[in-house]
Amino acid sequence: MAAGPDTVAMVIAEPVQNGRGALVPPEGYWRELRRICDAYGVLLCADEVINSFGRLGHWFGSERFGAEPDMITFAKGVTSAYQPLGGLVVRGPLVDRLWDSPLAMYVHGSTFGGHPVATAVAVANMTAMRDEDVFGRVLANENLLGDGLRALMESHACVKDVRGTGYFHSVELMRDRARGVDLNDSEVAELLPGGVLDRLVRAARVLVRPDGRGAVMLAVSPPLVADESVIDDLLGRLDQVLDRLGGWLKTST
Ligand SMILES: Cc1ncc(COP(=O)(O)O)c(C=O)c1O
Repeated sequence: MAAGPDTVAMVIAEPVQNGRGALVPPEGYWRELRRICDAYGVLLCADEVINSFGRLGHWFGSERFGAEPDMITFAKGVTSAYQPLGGLVVRGPLVDRLWDSPLAMYVHGSTFGGHPVATAVAVANMTAMRDEDVFGRVLANENLLGDGLRALMESHACVKDVRGTGYFHSVELMRDRARGVDLNDSEVAELLPGGVLDRLVRAARVLVRPDGRGAVMLAVSPPLVADESVIDDLLGRLDQVLDRLGGWLKTST
């Protein structure tokens, strides 16, 4: 705000932020973003490239957090990645302003924009999500996942924090929670990227993503169709990874 609100066109935020590991906003955060944007005539955009189409158990993460953005960007889950597609939802009055402008169009070309195959896949995917109650499954099992991860934190001193909601969680790692010791620079360098943590994850044959951006973390985002047995299996394999990480940390000093 030092530059003045008149220099700000738009605020863009994720309902649950991926960068730094599944950061869930505090109560009232999105309401306050809306209030500030309205006060200064600034547009508010929810980046839902990750959060939408069931990742948080709803069509859009904004629903879950009572967010009222002017625009929503989406991609990945809209086709469950069976075809590449991204898009933008825009409030009607803003679209009207565009239609009523001298150009009367949105001037942004994209070679394959609006491709009928990708959009047909999106429709088929959304239909399956609706008919198979995929979001109901996420909402029914999200606590199994979250509680399971928190239980792993209790049993592994190398877990610093567990965050997330829906099927979108992050496990942040440290050297020793009981003694309050973080990973040192050389340990971080050995763990990531392409290091010890990647090897431990691969050995446990589990698809969780080691992430070293800002902290050492494991991104835990199971497929939306994962049922209780898949979540149990995931937690068991993660337990192995953390066990072996604990062992490695003991020998790394
Ligand atoms: C939260 C978020 N926003 C935006 C993007 C960029 O999306 P795209 O690659 O469709 O431009 C990504 C890509 O991973 C993302 O995770």
